[in-house]
Amino acid sequence: MKTNLLLSEDAIRQRACELGEQISATYNDGSPVLCVCVLKGAFMFFGELVKRIKGDVILDFLTLSSYNGANTTGQVRLINDIKEFAQGRHVLIVEDIVDSGYTVEFLKKHFEEKGALSVKVACLIDRPLNRKVNVETDFSAFTVTSNRFLVGYGLDFNQRYRNMGYISEVEFE
Ligand code: IMP
Ligand code: MG
Repeated sequence: MKTNLLLSEDAIRQRACELGEQISATYNDGSPVLCVCVLKGAFMFFGELVKRIKGDVILDFLTLSSYNGANTTGQVRLINDIKEFAQGRHVLIVEDIVDSGYTVEFLKKHFEEKGALSVKVACLIDRPLNRKVNVETDFSAFTVTSNRFLVGYGLDFNQRYRNMGYISEVEFE
């Protein structure tokens, strides 16, 4: 499999710093922000981002599944929910990539139903050209205009490449 570097570790770290400041400035009413890492893909970006968020922060994790190789099934499944209470709290969903939008649509509804005070979305990559449903991100590190499949920094292809410290585009032969 051939890959081309798209986003370096330095570029990602730089944007995570900027987003961290933006997020810290957004939540200023004194109530805690429940940052939710969407596993597995967001794990690396989550770590990079949350250390830049100042104030009262609570971390939790959930696991979803919707992908099969390089194709979305469109069916989002909740494998493991968060353990913390979301009711009455600001929820910040942290995603690796927002593509068709099915995942974020599902999660926004999920946390609204739990009675969250607010639900916002931070992501490493926003790819609006593939949207199937009308969802928007609140804090996105990068917007990509190419349709190429991406790996690295948490993003996988059949569970591989998540450990790469940068993002590459995949060229399928
Ligand atoms: P969506 O539901 O189509 O917006 O897709 C969201 C999920 O699909 C992301 O959280 C990723 O885990 C996965 N995904 C979408 N595009 C890619 C990609 O280019 N590479 C790896 N995973 C992807
Ligand atoms: Mg994901």
